[in-house]
Formats: sequence, structure tokens, C-alpha cells
Amino acid sequence: MTRPLIGVFDSGVGGLTVLNALLRQVSTADYLYFGDTARLPYGSKSVETVAKYAISAVQFLEQQGAERLVVACNTACALAFQRIASSIHVPALGVIEPGADAGAAASHTKRAVVIATEGTVSSHAYRDALTERGVTAVEKACPLFVPLVEEGWLDHEVTRHVAHIYLEGLFDSHGPDTLILGCTHYPLLKPLLRTVVPPRVCIIDSAEATAAAVRRDLAGGDGRRPNVRFFATDSIEKFRRAGEKFLERDIKDVVHVDLET
Ligand code: DGL
Repeated sequence: MTRPLIGVFDSGVGGLTVLNALLRQVSTADYLYFGDTARLPYGSKSVETVAKYAISAVQFLEQQGAERLVVACNTACALAFQRIASSIHVPALGVIEPGADAGAAASHTKRAVVIATEGTVSSHAYRDALTERGVTAVEKACPLFVPLVEEGWLDHEVTRHVAHIYLEGLFDSHGPDTLILGCTHYPLLKPLLRTVVPPRVCIIDSAEATAAAVRRDLAGGDGRRPNVRFFATDSIEKFRRAGEKFLERDIKDVVHVDLET
């Protein structure tokens, strides 16, 4: 039985939270992971820049043999998913639709809060996807979370303080009952955020929802462990060190790639 080769793309190591979920939920595939670490962050860049960077990355993955693509970067999906998907010849899945599906399924009050990068919030991609599913969304940019996660401050008092400031007043007693993590880095803050939002609030991680969407498309398997190869545009040592936190396992086989800018 042939195993599908899935390319997973993100602006950096954050998308390894999506690969992590894929490895657990879809062990019947092999993977290529591309982290555009030299050009991160995407979250504060323009639509044109993000589209150009993301297209070069997914085209690279297609050239390496990827038979389907998961665009794990929320910002790239929010700003340019259609352009990215139409630049390649294999099917592509983004993280916003699965995240919105899971958020809508979880919310009883049909009101949700989405936290994400500035780019994702200003595109209103999550708000629009949730509106289509009957959910009213409040979107909040949390730009400090990405550097705090990169720093490894996952359970730090500064991060907790920042989270309180960002989320203050968003969950009043009759308000939203669902928090959607609309950025690849935020799943690592889930335990901390759990202590900041009221217990009745369900926290949705689009990494898990995206992996579940891929699993629905793929059946079968030969029982072998997935093979994973990694590509990064900046230091492979740095990618390995930072990435192991996100992937929760050893990272080997990182190849440095220089893409035209
Ligand atoms: N990968 C980005 C996202 O999910 C976060 C990091 C960045 O700003 O590039 O939105």
C-alpha cells in the first residue's frame, strides 16, 4: 500500500503543533515539514509579502513530492489561502475552516473569541468563517504571545499577566463560551490560558481540528511509523532546538533551504 506524502508549511516552528497532531491522528502518511524561519514572523507583514513567501514555500514542497499540502500557518491562510492553493497542483487544506468548524460545534452560546496575530485578526477570516456557521466572533490580536512562546515562557508570570490583559472583559457571564486559538504558537499556551479563562470556556486548538480533517480524507495504512523530513530557511540547529518543544519529540534530518525573496 502506498503512503501519501503530506507537505506541512508554516512560517516557522509553530506549525509543528499541527504536525504533532497529524502524527498522532494520521500515522498512515509520511511528511515533509517546511519552516520559513528566516522570514518569520508573517503575523505583522503585508498580504503581498506573506503571499509571496508562502507560495515559494508550498511550491518547494510540491517539487519535493508532496501529494497534498497542509498550510499550517494561520496568517498565511487568513491573508492568502486561495492564492497559495491555486499556485500548486495538489490539494491544499488550511487551518481556518477546520478551526471554525470545531469552534462552531463546541459553542452553545454561539459566541466565540478568536485570538491570533495582527494579520489574521485584521483579515477577519475567522470572523467570516464563524459567521457562516452561525457564530458571532470577537477577534483579539495577541502579538506578544508568539515571542513569549518562542522564548519558552509557557508558564511564566509575565505570560500570565499578558494573557490577563489581552483577555480581560472578553468572557462576561452571558458571553462567549469558546476560545479559538488562531495561531500556530498558541496551543503551547493552552495550559496557561486554561487558568486565565473561566472553566466553562472550551478552548479550541485548530491543530487538532485540522489533523482530524486530514484523517477524514485518508483511510488505511500499513502500520509503519511515519517518516518525516524537515526543511528550514534559517539555522538548522536553531530549528531543531526550538522545534522539539513544539513537536514533543526528537527532530532529525533538517535540511537548510535558501528560497529566493
Ligand atoms: N505561524 C503564524 C500563525 O499561525 C505565527 C508566527 C508568525 O507570525 O509568523 O499565524
